Amino acid sequence: MSDKESKQKLSTEPYKGVRDFYPDDMAVENYIFSVWRKTAESFGYQEYGASVLEPTELYKAKSGQEIINEQTYSFTDRGERDVTLRPEMTPTVARMIAAKRKELRFPIRWYSIPNLFRYEKPQRGRLREFYQFNADIFGLDRMQADMEMVMLAYQIMKSFGLNDKQFEIRINVGVNATKQDAETLMKKLAAVGIKNARFDEEIVRGMEYYTGITFEMYDTGKDNPRALFGGGRYDNLLDIFGEEKVPATGFGMGDVGIKNVLETYNLLPQIPAPADLYLCPMSEKEIEYAEKLAQNIRDAGARVIVDYSGKKVGEQIKYADKSRIPFVAVIGENETKTGTFKIKNLSSGTETEATAKTAASVILQ
Ligand code: HAM
Repeated sequence: MSDKESKQKLSTEPYKGVRDFYPDDMAVENYIFSVWRKTAESFGYQEYGASVLEPTELYKAKSGQEIINEQTYSFTDRGERDVTLRPEMTPTVARMIAAKRKELRFPIRWYSIPNLFRYEKPQRGRLREFYQFNADIFGLDRMQADMEMVMLAYQIMKSFGLNDKQFEIRINVGVNATKQDAETLMKKLAAVGIKNARFDEEIVRGMEYYTGITFEMYDTGKDNPRALFGGGRYDNLLDIFGEEKVPATGFGMGDVGIKNVLETYNLLPQIPAPADLYLCPMSEKEIEYAEKLAQNIRDAGARVIVDYSGKKVGEQIKYADKSRIPFVAVIGENETKTGTFKIKNLSSGTETEATAKTAASVILQ
């Protein structure tokens, strides 16, 4: 390496089309995941997971040609195996169900939130690594199962705070279903209060495994024109493992699109503060006492940070305020002797006398 090359600085940019999640971004991700989890679990779905690495052949049979030929991250490992970073979860979950088909109790309702990799042109709503909520039912070939999928997706949008006018569910009949099936479905959906679903023959899903009804969800505004979720019935996918037929239906919903929608409609919650209480030692001498005190208050359920900066108390309080930490307490010599200290609420300015025992209840009231 030449001198010039060795001095070149490395870029701090992440790889093209993937994201770094700084704590505020992570808080948003966690919020999105929590809505997915809570809603799926309210319908009785159980979470599963798997590795990002899969044998490439898993996708050859039934994932769409576009995904296989143009969008996979594939490589040959040191043992000459063809490996792919999963571009979708459906073949993985089908493999898992097929592997334990005899032990599992059907019907099965499962969900997952995997990160997926697709070599796409990065653009608004589409990245090269994204998280995708998946919900699937195995072992039910009845329309009620497809309907439950639409109901779950609808409920997720409601849980995010969207109203019926802000999104729309588009349903197509697919190859083996009839128009009659799609109407019937629409009527049943209307009967359970879902009125923003409509029949749309233009819905064409990229994957080759769909065998019946397919559906997608769209934001009705102009800012986010891409599908927010997509799915449908796939009754033949487990055949690729040489197993008997297992009817299946499900959908996937990405984190990128819904985050854009929540931003558009101003529906993202406030980023939570990192702690409830910030302890400000007056000098180095009080740090050890503050550390012990902090642990006592943590044990009672509050989130506590001790300042180690050695800066003036005023500076410490400023840092707490800027970090949106709602309470501070200054620990000086007097406080270490008496065991009592004042907890100050930074937004109202009120102060409450507390001890190690009572502090948590003052903060968490
Ligand atoms: P999909 O239509 O390829 O279906 O993806 C479903 C959703 O994932 C899309 O509507 C979008 O929200 C999100 N998505 C897809 N590609 C990207 C990307 N490059 N960047 C960000 N978000 C993206 C499937 O993946 C099926 N396996 C879904 C399924 C589950 N079918 C049955 N069960």
